[in-house]
Amino acid sequence: MQKIILLFIFAPLLFAIDGEDVYKKNCKSCHIDMISKAEFRSQLKERQAPPMIAVATKLKNTIIIQDRENSEEIHRFTVISFIKEYLKYPSAEYYACSGSAVNRFDIMPAQDHLSEEELQAVSEWIYDNYEDEDYN
Ligand code: HEC
Repeated sequence: MQKIILLFIFAPLLFAIDGEDVYKKNCKSCHIDMISKAEFRSQLKERQAPPMIAVATKLKNTIIIQDRENSEEIHRFTVISFIKEYLKYPSAEYYACSGSAVNRFDIMPAQDHLSEEELQAVSEWIYDNYEDEDYN
């Protein structure tokens, strides 16, 4: 009986989607995770997309929330929402990463094979994983 109760308590944790896992399976083939600018430049020819740390940093610096008490939470919410939407509808009109990256690599193919939960998890992971990192 106790085991059954435990299973119910922990079931949501067991089935929670891990954003890093989604990244490794669906994004890593194009977006390398952590790298310095200099090192990335030296491997540019073999690469198909900007590094994830560059994308995360650029998005966070581009989207600015001003004059709100809980601006950090609103910033996190807004950036995550943007990433999630962009994964479904990548666009030459709305991209936030650098123009030179788009010229070199073109626009990303839509990641619409992922579920809403996977999109949410990977978008949150992008925001949180690079919290104390800078791309330089
Ligand atoms: C086939 C290669 C490829 C795959 C796979 C891929 N991407 Fe991309 N991604 C790109 C390229 C190229 C760009 C740069 C152009 C652009 O912004 O559309 C990009 C840009 C981005 C951006 C920046 C968006 C912006 O506003 O400019 C985010 C965020 C991103 N990718 C997340 C992901 C995530 C998360 C996954 C996996 C679920 C993923 N990508 C899979 C090629 C890829």
